[in-house]
Amino acid sequence: MAPRKIIIDTDPGQDDAVAILLALASPEEIDVLGITAVAGNVPLPLTAKNARIVCELAGKPGTKVFAGCDAPLKRKLVTAEHVHGKTGLDGPQLPEPKMALQAAHGVDFIIDTLRREPKGSVTLCPLGPLTNIATAFRRAPDIVERVQEIVLMGGAYFEVGNITPAAEFNIYVDPEAAEIVFKSGVPLVVMPLDVTHKVLTTAPRIQAFRAMGTEAGRMVAEWTDFFERFDKEKYGSNGAPLHDPCVIAWLLQPGLFKGRHINVEIETQSELTLGMTVADWWGVTDRAPNAVFIGDVDADGFFALLTDRISRL
Ligand code: BDR
Ligand code: CA
Repeated sequence: MAPRKIIIDTDPGQDDAVAILLALASPEEIDVLGITAVAGNVPLPLTAKNARIVCELAGKPGTKVFAGCDAPLKRKLVTAEHVHGKTGLDGPQLPEPKMALQAAHGVDFIIDTLRREPKGSVTLCPLGPLTNIATAFRRAPDIVERVQEIVLMGGAYFEVGNITPAAEFNIYVDPEAAEIVFKSGVPLVVMPLDVTHKVLTTAPRIQAFRAMGTEAGRMVAEWTDFFERFDKEKYGSNGAPLHDPCVIAWLLQPGLFKGRHINVEIETQSELTLGMTVADWWGVTDRAPNAVFIGDVDADGFFALLTDRISRL
């Protein structure tokens, strides 16, 4: 089978970085048409730079990286340096990327790619706030029906929130963009905190990356080491959740995951619960299902896949 064509929309972030590595390490299954950076964990100039650092680390400097939107549709940007550090990729010493950013804007790349490629052949993989995707859908409504599927990291139901008591970071940063995407009618697969909090970077799992003896293995170990501190302190958990790699793992081995096809709405009005993903997990409304909302994962299977693929870099 031909590899699945995807666009990764991202705000790296250590977990975004691992997701990008996983995709670039899997060329038989996944063809990364391009990577669009968005403002999120850190401001746009840093996410656009970090995406290139990761491509070079993967040995894929030919990957096209575009800068997209530098602020949410209607709100002031909220960032997460308290989790990811000042650079977004704190942990190891970071090299300066040599590869250039593409000249085009990320939103134009998304629009042009969806118009150029056969209808239903491109999957969008958002790993950050949904600003780029929503902007593309608003500017070019004709592309919406051309998207094969959107597989995204965002939201929460049982785990409720991480950036506020009620909201997960990616959705909270740009709830209006999230609303556009969740109401778009495009088939959605959603990786909420409910599942990502089950894939934790325990000490033996980090050691497996370090033991590879490769540059990619070392960087992943140092990133996850850094990233881990925050979650250990906050949740008292055994390690850090590898949120964004769940999106790519689902493309590679969907059988690792379990979820439900349900209705998910985005709160955009209430100050208290802004950005909440109101997920009808128990089917108590008659609102039409719009997303496969994932709730469970085989964590050992996930790490076996991730370790195997990172070791190929
Ligand atoms: C999400 O927010 C970011 O901090 C991570 O990269 C992930 O995409 C988790 O809430
Ligand atoms: Ca992210």
